[in-house]
Amino acid sequence: MDIAAWLRDLGFAQYEGAFRDNDIDADVLRRLTADDLRELGVASIGHRRRLLDAIALLSEGAAMPTEAPAPAEAAAPAREAERRQITVMFCDLVGSTALASRLDPEDLREVIGAYHRVVAETVGRFAGFVAKYMGDGVLVYFGYPEAHEDDAERAVRAGLALLDAIARLDTPEKLQIHVGAATGLVVVGDLIGAGASQERGVVGETPNLAARVEGLAAPGTLVIADGTRRHVGALFDLEDLGAQPLAGFAEPQRAWRVIGESGAVSRFEALRSDATPLVGREEELELALRRWQQAKTGEGRVVLVSGEPGIGKSRLTAALSDMIADEPHTRLRWFCSPHHQDSVLYPTIARIEAAAGFARGDAADQRRSKAHTLLSSGGADDDFELLAELLSLPNAAAALNISPQRKRERLFEALLHQLAELSRHKPVLGVFEDAHWIDPTSRELLDLMVERVKHLPVLLVITFRPEFQAPWGGQPHVTSFALNRLGGREVGALVLGIAGNAPLGSEVVAEIVERTDGVPLFVEELTKAVLEHVGQEDRLAAVLSASPVSALAVPATLHASLTARLDRIGSAAREIAQIGAVLGREFSYELIEPVAQRPEAELRAGLGLLTDAGLLFCRGVPPQSSYLFKHALVQDTAYGTLLRTRRQELHARVAEVLQGDFADLAERQPELLAHHLQAAGANDRAVEQWLKAGQRAAGKLAHPEAIAHLERGLALLSTLPEGPERDDREIELRLALGVSYITVRGMSSPSVPEAYARSRELAEKRGNERQRFQATFGLWQNKGALGITRDARVFSNELLQLAGRGKNDGFHLQAHHSAWTTGFFRGELTEARAHTIEGSRLYDPEEHHSHRFIYGGHDPGACAVYTAAQLDWFLGFPDR
Ligand SMILES: Nc1ncnc2c1ncn2[C@@H]1O[C@H](COP(=O)(O)OP(=O)(O)OP(=O)(O)O)[C@@H](O)[C@H]1O
Ligand SMILES: [Mg+2]
Repeated sequence: MDIAAWLRDLGFAQYEGAFRDNDIDADVLRRLTADDLRELGVASIGHRRRLLDAIALLSEGAAMPTEAPAPAEAAAPAREAERRQITVMFCDLVGSTALASRLDPEDLREVIGAYHRVVAETVGRFAGFVAKYMGDGVLVYFGYPEAHEDDAERAVRAGLALLDAIARLDTPEKLQIHVGAATGLVVVGDLIGAGASQERGVVGETPNLAARVEGLAAPGTLVIADGTRRHVGALFDLEDLGAQPLAGFAEPQRAWRVIGESGAVSRFEALRSDATPLVGREEELELALRRWQQAKTGEGRVVLVSGEPGIGKSRLTAALSDMIADEPHTRLRWFCSPHHQDSVLYPTIARIEAAAGFARGDAADQRRSKAHTLLSSGGADDDFELLAELLSLPNAAAALNISPQRKRERLFEALLHQLAELSRHKPVLGVFEDAHWIDPTSRELLDLMVERVKHLPVLLVITFRPEFQAPWGGQPHVTSFALNRLGGREVGALVLGIAGNAPLGSEVVAEIVERTDGVPLFVEELTKAVLEHVGQEDRLAAVLSASPVSALAVPATLHASLTARLDRIGSAAREIAQIGAVLGREFSYELIEPVAQRPEAELRAGLGLLTDAGLLFCRGVPPQSSYLFKHALVQDTAYGTLLRTRRQELHARVAEVLQGDFADLAERQPELLAHHLQAAGANDRAVEQWLKAGQRAAGKLAHPEAIAHLERGLALLSTLPEGPERDDREIELRLALGVSYITVRGMSSPSVPEAYARSRELAEKRGNERQRFQATFGLWQNKGALGITRDARVFSNELLQLAGRGKNDGFHLQAHHSAWTTGFFRGELTEARAHTIEGSRLYDPEEHHSHRFIYGGHDPGACAVYTAAQLDWFLGFPDR
């Protein structure tokens, strides 16, 4: 277990040193007490509490962040099967059959053993999980058991490193391998097989694809599927192998050979884009520009930009750089990398290599001379030797004969001197990106740089994610700001900017705004995913309906980073996130407690971890607390990892709890219950609740909501067995829909006769008078509104007839209601007047008050009086 990583994930990087110095290993960690923590220097009670909670979770069998690979023989962390996006890598020895025939079995065993060891070791460095050795083939997962935002990239790097390591392996015969990788959604985690051959099985087409593209790889090469390529952007140079017909795949699959790292300067340039216009951020840019103006005068400034992944830190620095592009200045850029957090001064080395123009295949002395041209101006020769040593070039640093400590000081001095020299000619804009991945030595150098620029014409912009604690904040020449989420209008503009000419309806845009919570990266990826979807289907349909957005769930490109956030908190807390996700974007402690069925301490610890990790917002103190997923997409991701059967189980439990302990809530919000029942597969009961929800909403005049609920119920009907019960449900749903359609869309809307004609037909079949009466009334209204008074008369007569059969005053009243209205419009005034008299006689405000929700949307008594008055006027009795 990597204790340092565990501490970092908890946001307690400051204790790394203390834990290391006191030899805290995984075993000791589990047994640490509050007193121990105090002695370790954890002075804050809050921190001690949180650490103890996290330790408790570890002991409950949570998955731990591991750096070493878990080979197939070792027990993989016990957990349920899940849906996950992973990158699967296959590698295979070239010509192993021939090898077997040439070598003595015992030698062969050694060769294979050495090969396996190299694979496990290499892949382990990139957090790959060796799932299975199959003779000379090895199956590796990236993104399981723990996801990282860059799993696909890790797989590619591991593949390249593996080719390299195998080529250097010292065996009696030179070994060669081919490697393939593919990325996609799978179900992983079920134990397949028994005993020694037991493995964490992966089900889905991704492993097949990985095996097939491996088949395309020539000896000594790595080939990746298109899905993997999408995740690695321009980080690698690739050769397009075109669309390849592959066994088991209906469509040809595009495949790419990986040539090597591309040397793209920044992760932003390789993985993101600034193709769409910048939206918002005016204030931040203005502030940064002001600091630039001040810095140019010789009083250097530092701007610290923090914010969550994808919020736009890099984009902001790019925009700043664009804005001052026409001014004379020198731009220096340093990039930290997640893969080089332990390599000394990596950002500096990478910067110099890029600036000096090192190319693949340059000989060492060629590089030395390129570096010399770049670096030697103004510095002492000895300094250059130190820099050459740093760059691993031929050098005479050893001859300087100075202590390592002194050497380091001089190296720092040389680098700072360089900066000062450059700024003497022109002001310098320095951008130091992604400080959360900084290596310790660079960190020291950066401290010195922040100090040094105070008196130089330099603006230094440092970006980092919130987990990094920037220590420079208090100084007068340092300005910090956190980038916030974009506002709804800005997100809307961004969506339209990305969509270009593609027709995205306002509903789709609104849903993207809603689900991406103002994080530009999410906006970009979700919009692109929607556009791709639109491309596949009928464009117009997609524009008219918002459903594709929800159907798409989490874009593949965001999967890894979102899953990584969940995995980091350990499996116990992650399961709580999954349960929360089933409950909804927002849920209360009261509700999750009976659903989760876990010891209170564990539940609270899990919720605490989720809150501390910034995945949930918490309001109040348990048991009076409520929680909100910080991002809709995090909720979607947590939900998406659950297997269908498990989802159903959880939804069923929620429905049960709602009906049992929260009967009041279920009564007030039948749609909530309906949603969970439907997701649990209890469609029959769900339909009942959708109807109830629709009627309730209509009763509160929330007709658009009523329509949504009722239509959902209707959509679900087809899953129920045919029969009188289903017919009854359908009639009630359609009758309720009819009223809401009339209110929202008007009596003459074509939806109205559609709803009523079908319910009338079914009601006749069922022989239910009330239903038949209501449906006929609806049809009458529609004809009346369309001005087809002859048809209206027919329906009205039918209503009179239906009413005449029984003793229901309500039916009589409404039949007359239809008759006076029809007569009025047909000019049959005397007859109409007679019907109003009948109507007024029958009308009982107590009893018929509720009619307005069923018939025509207004009060029949008032209508009778009002129409009568008009009729009297027309008939020549203005005084009556
Ligand atoms: N204000 C904005 N207007 C338009 N697009 C934006 C804006 N901010 C960010 N973007 C886009 O969103 C994506 C993510 O932004 P960016 O890469 O700058 O995020 P970041 O904060 O640097 O994330 P990370 O921590 O992962 O480096 C980029 O493609 C970027 O172009
Ligand atoms: Mg960035």
